Amino acid sequence: MLSITGPELRLLWLLSCTFLVLLCRVSNAKRDLKSACTTCQQITDNFNKGFDSTAKQNFGGGNTAWEERKLSKYETSEIRLMEIVEGLCESSSFECNRMVEEHEDHFETWWFKRKTKHPDLHKWFCIETIKVCCPKGTFGPDCNACVGGSERPCHGNGICDGDGTRGGNGKCSCNHGYNGEFCLDCIDGFFNEVRNDTFSLCTECHSSCKTCNGATNQDCDECKDGWEEDDQEACVDVNECSQDPSPCKEDQFCQNTEGSYSCKACDKACAGCTGAGPDKCQACASGYQDTEGTCTDIDECSQSEPVCTKENQECVNTDGLYICLCSSGYEEKDGECVQLPQPEKTEEPEAPDTSPHGEL
Ligand SMILES: *[C@@H]1O[C@H](CO)[C@@H](O)[C@H](O)[C@H]1NC(C)=O
Repeated sequence: MLSITGPELRLLWLLSCTFLVLLCRVSNAKRDLKSACTTCQQITDNFNKGFDSTAKQNFGGGNTAWEERKLSKYETSEIRLMEIVEGLCESSSFECNRMVEEHEDHFETWWFKRKTKHPDLHKWFCIETIKVCCPKGTFGPDCNACVGGSERPCHGNGICDGDGTRGGNGKCSCNHGYNGEFCLDCIDGFFNEVRNDTFSLCTECHSSCKTCNGATNQDCDECKDGWEEDDQEACVDVNECSQDPSPCKEDQFCQNTEGSYSCKACDKACAGCTGAGPDKCQACASGYQDTEGTCTDIDECSQSEPVCTKENQECVNTDGLYICLCSSGYEEKDGECVQLPQPEKTEEPEAPDTSPHGEL
């Protein structure tokens, strides 16, 4: 049940309108014509939604003759109009509230006098009455036809600036692949599959073509970088990896890809390689040896000639290298491993010196 009656509601409404209208006149002298139409479109969309949702309201859910009469009276009532109008804008949308409040009379006029003859509220209100929108395919103050005509603006291949609004300049922003004032031309990398004065279909060229006149790699006018023409005049991938010298550095191997190539680091066991892994080495890096085609670490510590020759020194093998450390209980001093001062009654051996002396 509404606690405020029709006339009271209306008075409240008018008071709030007057205040807001004043505010906007000051702050919004020059308003964006495109966004005014968008706002108007939202308003009329919400009006239609509100119209539908209030249609389902009934008085108690029964079907008595009294309720039927009451319902049919409500359908065309001012109360219903007010309920719909209240739901037209988010309270935070200044532009929307301004527009509704400025033109509230028009909603009343339409509701009571024009609805039957002009059922399309958007057309009647936004286009014909407050003139912030234009019919589809037209733009600007006088609703002139977009470039390419109002039936299919931009020949269906782009967006007309200001389409459907009183703003914009009617020019085309073409969809991807299309070009030119009328969006009938194709950009480089696309070709006209179909074309006449009013219709154009641009299709992407084969990935090997810079420009083309058909879809395959034999239809290229010019090959893209990384591709070259073969005997059959088709664009084929250039194998950069078979070039001499190789485009990669010495510690890299080359991988050919369609239209390009990449360089990847060799395994650290390799000195030069043909692929990934220690089994693709051209030669083994120092500290590694060839074991049945794979470069593996040399264990310098287990060679017959000892490599750590100082007294109280131990050899520790690492990947590709070895290090000589002082044995536990000794530390390095002036290049020699000298005994640590024995702490009294401490049995625990000291950890080995952490600054190893590396040798190749
Ligand atoms: C242009 O081509 C389209 C699509 O093939 C066709 O519908 C249209 O009638 C053609 N127009 C002219 C003027 O030939």
